[in-house]
Amino acid sequence: MKEYKIAVLGATGAVGQEMLKILEEYKIPVSELRPLASARSAGAAVTFQGREYVLQEATDDSFEGLDFVLGAVEGDMSRRFAPAIKKSGAVYIDNSSAFRLEPDVPLVVPEINGEDAFANQGIIANPNCCTIIALMAVAGIARISPIENMVVCTYQAVSGAGQNGIKELEQQMNALAAGEQPEVKTFAAQIALNVIPFIDAPYGNDYTKEEMKMQNEGRRILHEPELKVNCTCVRVPVMRSHSIAVTLRTREKVSVEEAKAAVAAFPGVRLIEEYKGRCYPTPLDTSDQDLVWVGRIRDDLTDDRGLTLWCCGDQIRKGAASNAVQILKLLAEKA
Ligand SMILES: NC(=O)c1ccc[n+]([C@@H]2O[C@H](COP(=O)([O-])OP(=O)(O)OC[C@H]3O[C@@H](n4cnc5c(N)ncnc54)[C@H](OP(=O)(O)O)[C@@H]3O)[C@@H](O)[C@H]2O)c1
Repeated sequence: MKEYKIAVLGATGAVGQEMLKILEEYKIPVSELRPLASARSAGAAVTFQGREYVLQEATDDSFEGLDFVLGAVEGDMSRRFAPAIKKSGAVYIDNSSAFRLEPDVPLVVPEINGEDAFANQGIIANPNCCTIIALMAVAGIARISPIENMVVCTYQAVSGAGQNGIKELEQQMNALAAGEQPEVKTFAAQIALNVIPFIDAPYGNDYTKEEMKMQNEGRRILHEPELKVNCTCVRVPVMRSHSIAVTLRTREKVSVEEAKAAVAAFPGVRLIEEYKGRCYPTPLDTSDQDLVWVGRIRDDLTDDRGLTLWCCGDQIRKGAASNAVQILKLLAEKA
């Protein structure tokens, strides 16, 4: 593999920090690294491959001469910098939701639709974290018989809201332990010892934007434009790794045994039937790794063509940073 010049846009964030770790872990040959963030972080240092790099403020001039830009900023910032990245000729692999539904932007999970990445015109979108984890869990089943619809409930870790989400749970737990009233800043209600059944902004149909991503993005990734998803997204007081309960209906009946075999054989997925005396994963089991763990695969008692399952996956890794670096690796290996 040749050596690459790579920028991480948002290198101080939860996803950006993990990208640096994963570029190193995956041994991507990097001849130049540009860690970029806001003016607030400019001048601070990050370590990569044992060397210190100075964080630079991202500007329109930050992208000249690069091969890849890994995006780990919010959608508005992503839109703000995308024209300059495009102009530089670098391929932009973006973690925000800014471009995920644009027809000329491939939306890619390498194990599911990796070939779509090669049709890029300069931007490739990384799907929503819950969408990646849930689709990794069901993609093997979908290859036996296409999925017509899914009813999904997510249990999302606070780190899904970035560094501020992590700080909020830590501070609230410390306040409660000290007998003090926890301060509520990032989430709409106290998250310590609580759950919040509303993530992201309203979509306009009584669902939230986060909930509609599973259907809108799932259609593109699975190449199933008629897929229907009813999703409820819930924030839970877990630091890292999202958990998701999925009930799905396939076009033809898939038996539990067929489903288990398909899940076990799917790359990047681990079937759990017996693990530490349990038949299911928990978010602590799956944190800090790329595998999505799937357990409790069973028949749906309300639908002859239905199956129900439980899955957990690290949303900062496979749900964001690892998936993006895997896309980069896919393009690099093909070049
Ligand atoms: N967290 C997850 O689990 C997850 C999963 C999937 C996708 N995502 C998506 O990934 C993106 C990053 O999320 P995150 O959780 O890592 O957020 P985060 O921890 O809040 O980090 C945000 C990053 O954006 C940078 N930034 C803010 N304003 C900027 C500006 N004007 N110019 C350049 N950089 C700027 C911040 O730099 P400063 O430190 O200098 O402010 C920081 O590096 C978001 O689009 C999010 O939706 C997150």
